Amino acid sequence: MRITCVVGARPNFMKVTPILAYAAGLPDVRCRLIHTGQHYDERMSALFFTELELPKPDSYLGVGSGSHAVQTASVMLKFEDELNAHHADLVLVVGDVNSTLSCALVAVKRHIPVAHVEAGLRSRDRRMPEEINRVLTDQISEYLFTTDRDAGRNLLAEGIPAERIHFVGNVMIDTLLRHRKHARRSGVLKRLSLTPRDYAVCTMHRADNVDTVEAAERTSNAIAILADRLPVVLPMHPRTRSRWSSFGLLARLDRCRNLILTDPLGYLEFLALMDNAALVLTDSGGIQEETTILGVPCLTFRENTERPITVSEGTNQLVGLDLVRLATAIDEVLSGEIVDGRTPELWDGQAAARILHVLQSRDPRRSPPPARPENSSLADAAIARTCSHFT
Ligand code: UD1
Repeated sequence: MRITCVVGARPNFMKVTPILAYAAGLPDVRCRLIHTGQHYDERMSALFFTELELPKPDSYLGVGSGSHAVQTASVMLKFEDELNAHHADLVLVVGDVNSTLSCALVAVKRHIPVAHVEAGLRSRDRRMPEEINRVLTDQISEYLFTTDRDAGRNLLAEGIPAERIHFVGNVMIDTLLRHRKHARRSGVLKRLSLTPRDYAVCTMHRADNVDTVEAAERTSNAIAILADRLPVVLPMHPRTRSRWSSFGLLARLDRCRNLILTDPLGYLEFLALMDNAALVLTDSGGIQEETTILGVPCLTFRENTERPITVSEGTNQLVGLDLVRLATAIDEVLSGEIVDGRTPELWDGQAAARILHVLQSRDPRRSPPPARPENSSLADAAIARTCSHFT
């Protein structure tokens, strides 16, 4: 079975790593790795290949940055060339970035089955580009691999037939568990002169939190509130750096006592920083999951999350965008009012093995083309509902 695996942006690399590693040991599976080039900076991409020991991509599409339309269309054009040149029995995409949807669309129109890893997550906020990517990728995928039972329920409610949904656990946690010990030797705390449990880590990069002056000021005030209480490490996403520099906010942050501004960090250093932090403040999706496994309190600076299990079972609190509420939550965590999380079901380091097991047992070369779901009227209704959002 020839599987073409797609990565494009930073959060994709740690998700595909365990899948490629497990597949490498299977004699009847051959994987091709395609990097769309959505992320291209050394620190957003190449560094992860080295640290995670990801094989060099078989093909690099080099699409780079652009508007959503430009980026999505560029990936589609180049990925079609890739599929013309190299046969695939299955295309495997991960997560919810623009590259995920673009490649899934190209594959499904060529009648190549798509496997979506991390399917079914929903923020129910259609203004987030990632939510659109999630909903549409799920609708056209043949194999939907979920990280929790809620995600499966979301898919069923959208008319996806149950036999396409496979609850396998969380591949990002496979990678975290494999690298946690190694990360502890990274020396990053010493390099930044930090004491374990006496600092916070912060990341902010969502369009809603950084792209307009008003949002950027609110977000930088949130960071200042945190830095007022303890040292804060803020690795800056290139998007945040470029927006905030044009708003003149970087100079203000630079003057902030206790704030350590860094370039984006590699996987191991960032993992070590989270693992030893007193708390994490973020608008990232993946970090909500990683802190849950590390047992580190996480405050999510957003109005919603597509990962509610990190709140109901993990260490995550959705604090919204209200600065008074944020300050209270920070003070509660620092005074020891910490939510004791538990490990969500199947977040045990074996998700990639489960995915490959499903794919091998239902090798798409031996399966008949997908039948219309029995509840096709339900599926049609769901598609109509999805489409009505865009008209
Ligand atoms: C993308 C994903 C987001 C994910 C995030 C992780 C989409 C819609 N969004 O957002 O879900 O959480 O990646 O980082 O796919 N840039 C660079 N160098 C790079 C990459 C980006 O300078 O290597 C800058 C460019 O100015 C670019 C901007 O960052 O315009 C945004 O990059 P883009 O890939 O469009 O989205 P992200 O914000 O990174």
